[in-house]
Amino acid sequence: MPVDLERRDAVALLTLNQPKALNALSADMLSDLDARLGEVEEDPSLRAVVITGAGDKAFCAGADVKAMSTADALEARAFARQGQGVMSRIENMSRPVVAAVNGFALGGGCELALACDIRMAADGARFGQPEVTLGILPGWGGTQRLARTTSMGFAKDLCMTGRLIDARTAMSVGLVTHIHPADELLDAAMKLAGGMASGPAWAVGEAKAMCNLALSGDHRANLARELDVFSLAFSTHDQAEGMAAFLEKRSPDFAPLDAPSPNPESE
Ligand code: CAA
Repeated sequence: MPVDLERRDAVALLTLNQPKALNALSADMLSDLDARLGEVEEDPSLRAVVITGAGDKAFCAGADVKAMSTADALEARAFARQGQGVMSRIENMSRPVVAAVNGFALGGGCELALACDIRMAADGARFGQPEVTLGILPGWGGTQRLARTTSMGFAKDLCMTGRLIDARTAMSVGLVTHIHPADELLDAAMKLAGGMASGPAWAVGEAKAMCNLALSGDHRANLARELDVFSLAFSTHDQAEGMAAFLEKRSPDFAPLDAPSPNPESE
């Protein structure tokens, strides 16, 4: 399988599994990743996702340059549309998604990490948008998500020079929020995802959606929506349970993911 799905309790571990090609993403691999995400969305026992790369060298070295090299403009557009679709699916899914970046995250690989909610890096990981070195530019959302995640200046620096940065630099600009020794990264990512998976699924998903809104739209409208979503939380089992558990000094027992959601717009 080009992309493996492993169920570890409530966490889905998705592994890009083409280590000989540094997990570069072809159209087939993108389709496979999309299909695995669909399986996760269909399974209410899976409440969080971790994405990583097979091997010890790369998370993902980007779009498959060999396959792309003979594309005409229409084929390139279709490939970029496919990639953007998968990235947006990750960004918009109600479950939290953690990128465990265990090596190179370049081009489409950096864009994949950027579509995830939380990026954790091995201490030897390297990031970049080297598309300009190939005479092209990022096409799976990198120009937009890198600017929004870091800053306009830093996004232009990476996208216009094509230079690579190390994990510490990525941390200093907010591109990653955790760094671990390589052999501890996956456990740390599974632990972080497992914690979110045992949380209140509706509230965690709405927190994600509200943070995503901060990157677009009207600030006042977004604050008004936050008021609505915050108040809606008070109609959930999880609010009653979470607060009762706090007051009774015990662990909360939150509802399963397929419990009725208070928000008809939610997944
Ligand atoms: N596509 C296809 N194959 C790739 C690949 C890619 N993006 N990246 C690496 N590979 C393959 C290599 O061709 C090589 O295969 P062979 O053994 O069959 O020759 C194998 O993976 C190992 O790679 P290297 O021998 O190059 O390993 P290295 O350690 O010398 O270098 C590297 C590692 C710096 C990551 C280098 O492989 C590299 O620069 N890769 C390309 C990175 C890149 O430009 N990514 C952007 C792609 S464009 C894109 O992603 C557009 C977009 O926005 C969607």
